[in-house]
Amino acid sequence: MANYIQKPRGTEDITPSQSYRWSFLEDILKETAQSFGYKEIRTPTFEHTELFLRGVGDTTDVVQKEMYTFTDKGNRSLTLKPEGTAGAIRAALENGLLGDALPLKLNYITPCFRYDKPQAGRYREFHQFGVEAVGTISPSCDAEIISLGSVILNRLGLLDISLQLNSIGCPTCRAKYHEVLKEYFSSYKDRLCGTCLTRLDKNPMRIIDCKVPSCKEIVKGTPSILDYICEECSTHFNEVQLRLEALSIPFTVDSSIVRGLDYYTKTVFEFVDPKSGLTVGGGGRYDGLVEELGGSSLPGIGFGMGIERILLAMEKNSIDIPQPNSCDVYLGSIGNDANIKALELTTTLRTSGIFAECDIVGRSVKAQMKYANKINAKFSLVLGDNEIATNSVSVKAMATGESTTVSVSELCDYIKTALINLELSKIEIDI
Ligand code: HAM
Repeated sequence: MANYIQKPRGTEDITPSQSYRWSFLEDILKETAQSFGYKEIRTPTFEHTELFLRGVGDTTDVVQKEMYTFTDKGNRSLTLKPEGTAGAIRAALENGLLGDALPLKLNYITPCFRYDKPQAGRYREFHQFGVEAVGTISPSCDAEIISLGSVILNRLGLLDISLQLNSIGCPTCRAKYHEVLKEYFSSYKDRLCGTCLTRLDKNPMRIIDCKVPSCKEIVKGTPSILDYICEECSTHFNEVQLRLEALSIPFTVDSSIVRGLDYYTKTVFEFVDPKSGLTVGGGGRYDGLVEELGGSSLPGIGFGMGIERILLAMEKNSIDIPQPNSCDVYLGSIGNDANIKALELTTTLRTSGIFAECDIVGRSVKAQMKYANKINAKFSLVLGDNEIATNSVSVKAMATGESTTVSVSELCDYIKTALINLELSKIEIDI
């Protein structure tokens, strides 16, 4: 192996052969969120550790096993954010965003960090697109949030992704369910992992999403929470389902969905891609989180989608992402004076929005044209003494080899028209 310093395990480099796919996806995510009224928020990559202990919950896998926590030079405990919700809500509180018209509707794309065993679709640094709506308990908000996720997946062509829905109740009905779980899991004490044994008293629901195989086996027989939720939670759940049906969003009720973070209440859901087996997104209500983080008693709901996982699912489902534009025009040159003129002209073209390149290496004219071919330039021209003297250039269409003489002062307009004609000819071929 070459003697380079390697990237840390569980991280990825997004090189130009991939970054255009990210940009394409990010544009669709932001555009769709904006069309639902969710405005962008950006929050720090690291936060005070306390935020996640209180927000995400100190008996979750994320907090107990997966956080990148460090002490800074000022002796503060800080954590690279393992998810986007806690930071977004903290920022909403700190910046007084919850004092304006409610619901507050936010979207974000953020790096997240979890120390987990890397595998396909699971990284230590990954990126989440998230949306949060704070300030309403209405089931219409649940339906809007889920519909936003579903519209995004449809726009991307991920039509086979299934929506799994559940309700995990409120603190009142959860207390009753905890007792049922304690009784169930107590009879398997000898087979539970050490972490789950500590969860048994503090938070038995967390045993349900334990990743240890022996615990997973026991979890299969867990009593369903849906048999224990109170009337208010049950009515809310039914109203959410009615709205999803009205919006023609297919879903399956799956009582095994409990989500791995402690802030959830009532509605929870996951988007699962059957081809890759990956959960590409998940979310739910968090009616106690704002208060837990020091705000007033405001309900909220949201979801997060893994950018890497959506891209993987698109690949597995053979969904094409448009290639980035190639160079519109390459300006070759012979000699020093012509090279300076080419630099000037290239800048003029670029200023008017044309993707132009010229020789910045000092190649021979033959090598320059070879390069123009390699970068898939649509048009090319060569500037020499003659072109400078006559103030005109011969523009070659690379696909056909046809050439047209154009005066330098009209070059911008000529290239713009030629590009439109080229696009039109492609549409005609498609028809
Ligand atoms: P989460 O289910 O933990 O929820 O993560 C959301 C999504 O992030 C997952 O569905 C998955 O696509 C992606 N993801 C999670 N861990 C990894 C990983 N190690 N590698 C790659 N992708 C990953 C949350 O984080 C909540 N904050 C979502 C939410 C927002 N709930 C309400 N509002």
